Amino acid sequence: MFYIFPTATEIADFVSEQMLLRIKNQNKTVFGLATGSTMEPVYEQFIQKYRQCQPSLEQVYCFNLDEYVGLPAEHPQSYHAYMQKHLFRHVPFNQQQVFLPCGQKTANEAECQAFSALIQAQGGIDLQLLGIGTNGHIGFNEPGTPFNSRTHIVALSEQTRRDNSRFFANKNEMPTHAVTLGLKDIVEAEEVFLLATGAHKAEIMAALQRSRSDEQLPASILHEHPNAIVLLDAQAAQELDRSLCRSYQDLTRTRTAIAEKAT
Ligand code: F6R
Repeated sequence: MFYIFPTATEIADFVSEQMLLRIKNQNKTVFGLATGSTMEPVYEQFIQKYRQCQPSLEQVYCFNLDEYVGLPAEHPQSYHAYMQKHLFRHVPFNQQQVFLPCGQKTANEAECQAFSALIQAQGGIDLQLLGIGTNGHIGFNEPGTPFNSRTHIVALSEQTRRDNSRFFANKNEMPTHAVTLGLKDIVEAEEVFLLATGAHKAEIMAALQRSRSDEQLPASILHEHPNAIVLLDAQAAQELDRSLCRSYQDLTRTRTAIAEKAT
């Protein structure tokens, strides 16, 4: 389940390639997308690879994991703005097929339920991309979130607010709440890639590797997923038990063989 790559660049290369392969080989593709620093190189390489081959995006659907509550979509730190900046502005996805949770102040339970239902109406997510918070959150499912949760409004933990306030010039603008896909929505994806890069993720990745499924460590729900893999760079992997990890070459070799069979 844990694959160690030399750097974030090789992870981005692998993940963007897998995204393109799905678009080329499947009649329809539903992506679950994440934001944050970890995803930036992935989208950067996706854009470059997309430009080289320009496959049809007619049957591609994108659902984002989360959004802050109370930031207008045009606020530079909203996840709507992030997705425009890092992906949607550069790749002509059908905007009618791109969905982010609504982060308006009036966000409510009915809208949350509708977001989970919208994903189900598209047949569920094929490939879910995830980053991880230093407290183990995935999406904005903070420690203690029930594993059977659906899209919901969450009060962000102090740790998450501290970590993410780095993006805000005025720290007081850091939102207190967010809307996030629930853990159940996430693990219903056919395949999940959890990415972790940088030394600041080393401690939580070691905790994740040691853990069993435990609601106090939200990412540990992935232990129960038959098709979830964790991709780490060497820095994020520095505290892992290496005997339980595999090299990225094992993964790329297997995937290349599968892709060759499919063509
Ligand atoms: C963002 C998200 C979060 C981030 C996590 C890591 O859409 O769902 O769970 O993936 O907070 O953020 P970075 O990548 O900035 O370290």
